[in-house]
Amino acid sequence: MSTTTNSHSGRDRVAERLQRSSAKQSYDPDVDIDWDAPLVDGAYGKPPHRCSLYGTPLWEGLSEQQRAELSMQELSASTASGIWFELMLMQGLTRYAYSADPTSHRAHYALTEIADECRHSTMFGKAIDKIDGNVRRPSRYGHRAGKVFGAVAGPTLLFAGAIYVEELADAMQREIMRDESLQPLGRMVSRIHVLEEARHISFAKDELERAWRSHGPLAREAIRWSIAGMMVVATAEFLHPKAYTSVGLDPREAKRVAGANPHWRRTKADWARKAVELFEGMGIIGGPSKRLLRRAGLVD
Ligand SMILES: [Fe+2]
Ligand SMILES: [Fe+2]
Repeated sequence: MSTTTNSHSGRDRVAERLQRSSAKQSYDPDVDIDWDAPLVDGAYGKPPHRCSLYGTPLWEGLSEQQRAELSMQELSASTASGIWFELMLMQGLTRYAYSADPTSHRAHYALTEIADECRHSTMFGKAIDKIDGNVRRPSRYGHRAGKVFGAVAGPTLLFAGAIYVEELADAMQREIMRDESLQPLGRMVSRIHVLEEARHISFAKDELERAWRSHGPLAREAIRWSIAGMMVVATAEFLHPKAYTSVGLDPREAKRVAGANPHWRRTKADWARKAVELFEGMGIIGGPSKRLLRRAGLVD
């Protein structure tokens, strides 16, 4: 009796299903977004209560027009951090595909995901340009850390990073796409991204579970620290303080006020929740490294 040479494991079946779904529904932001449509004057980029200074004296001191402008700049800054992370992810996925069997569904899906992220980063760059966002790059530290992460992160760290940043962005973008009062450009970019990221998150979860199982207790503890550090850095990079200068605020002071703002701490915890719950359930968050996350307000 012959055995099939093309028998696929469970994870390959996940990749195959995702691959099929990508073929059926993907966007081309170059044509699916009307880049010539003017921005709606005075529209917020994200809901006011999700802005980092909401409820603080600094927020009270801004005019309605300035608040809307700051919300657009904050959205734009988070979009810039999305490009930063997607480029690292593309690098990691390229290394992943380099070592994979090129006939496998997993290799094909990794390549599909790289293609998705290429389109997303282009879309994000065009959106930042359209908004005239004043943040385009990560912090100097984030830029350096990202170079290392993209070049060396193994599958566990790579896919945990993908899940964390994709869930963070996903939670924000779901709120934006559903809120009809917000800037239409941001809503459309969010809708496109949410749809395609759902597949990326499924793939990353499948890969992460397998990668995590392959480690012994010592490696797991080291990875817990790395992942906690990655989460803290990625959350900080989600909003570069230069965004505050667009409405004449001192970036250092505004960053300090946002850091202590219970509304903003709650927002970050809300957006991180899905990833945090997944990691806690798997044992990826736990032990002494949890302190880092508690200080950042990401876990209780
Ligand atoms: Fe993306
Ligand atoms: Fe993605």
